[in-house]
Amino acid sequence: MLWIGLLLSMRLASLRGMRKLPANAKTPLLVLGLETSCDDTAAAVVRRSPDGDCAILSNEVWTEHEDHAAYGGIVPEIAARSHVERIDATVIKAVTKAGVKFADLDAVAATAGPGLVGGVMVGLTTAKALCLAHRLQLLPVNHLEGHALSAGMTEDAAFPYLLLLISGGHTQLLWVRDVGEYQRLGTTIDDAVGESFDKTAKLLGLGQPGGPRVQVAALSGHSDRFNFPKPLAKRAGCDFSFSGLKTAVREAAEDLTGPTGQDIADLAASFQYAAARHLVQRTGNAIDMTGPREKSPRLVVAGGVAANTVIRSMLQDLCDEKSWRLIVPPPQYCTDNGAMIAWAGAQRLAMGLAPTPDEALAIAPRARWPLAPPPDGGQIGGGRKGPKA
Ligand code: KG4
Ligand code: ZN
Repeated sequence: MLWIGLLLSMRLASLRGMRKLPANAKTPLLVLGLETSCDDTAAAVVRRSPDGDCAILSNEVWTEHEDHAAYGGIVPEIAARSHVERIDATVIKAVTKAGVKFADLDAVAATAGPGLVGGVMVGLTTAKALCLAHRLQLLPVNHLEGHALSAGMTEDAAFPYLLLLISGGHTQLLWVRDVGEYQRLGTTIDDAVGESFDKTAKLLGLGQPGGPRVQVAALSGHSDRFNFPKPLAKRAGCDFSFSGLKTAVREAAEDLTGPTGQDIADLAASFQYAAARHLVQRTGNAIDMTGPREKSPRLVVAGGVAANTVIRSMLQDLCDEKSWRLIVPPPQYCTDNGAMIAWAGAQRLAMGLAPTPDEALAIAPRARWPLAPPPDGGQIGGGRKGPKA
């Protein structure tokens, strides 16, 4: 029992020694960010200048695609083990490449959810240990907020803006007023768009990661060969649905006897076009709803699917037509990365929105963590346990 008391008093002593929050950051902030919510083990160091500029000093991402290849999808237990094996080396690489020491850091930010809880636990626990050992501020970050603010790292993305968040787990339209101020306009009522790319890739035998594989296969395909449905065509608003598209691809593939390479390419291209068209149609609705209140309206697109060139170009056409500005981060900051987690943490710290050391240490990994409640206060696309996000 003695050692428990000893450990407890050491922990309390460390807690007392942790840095106090600056109410408003007048100095540069140096933040290490850890991201482990899915199948990427990522760490990065960013510097936030007092005027709000971001410098990404390092950005290390270790993707686990190989670890899951034999299973045709992400296996949570394997993902968690891979994070355990790789997190230390990834953190050391990020800090070394940034040319800084742990003692130079102001804070460590880590994804605290939503995501695969075993993986989130690895990153968050590592961050807690680093903060206790080096007396740093701990910043638990909502992964979706990381994506929501990611454009601000490299682009001039002043608030407010309309956000289309498209990733493997989420498909949402949000009005972003400021850091921490999000209003949800719509979300998927079934699959996320990235999930539908991944399932389509699996169905067509293209392997994983599905999104990039579908994009490559579609290059030699004809997007007008299969006339896939327009989801929610008769429903106004900004919600999405992708499960019908996925089923339509499966039925079209089953109708073909021994699909040729060209058939696969045509299916990939037709699916990609239908998915992009659906994103554009619902985003158009959101623009029409929010447009009149803004003088220089901006659409920011974030999340792994924002790396898709066809989707980017069709959203650009939409913005040109509506006289909106389109802002999309470079592809390496669309897919999961530690820099966006460090940046979201730095923004919260700078604005005095970070939790106290005691509160931060008490935050547990969360599988579900909505960024903003649904417009009607109900639970959209949430499954039995409540909304995913
Ligand atoms: O943001 P992200 O890295 O992780 C999540 O938070 O989910 O997004 C991963 C998703 C995967 O579904 C992946 O297939 C998709 O983004 N993705 C793409 C492309 N690159 C990644 N989907 C379509 N086209 C791409 N080029
Ligand atoms: Zn993500």
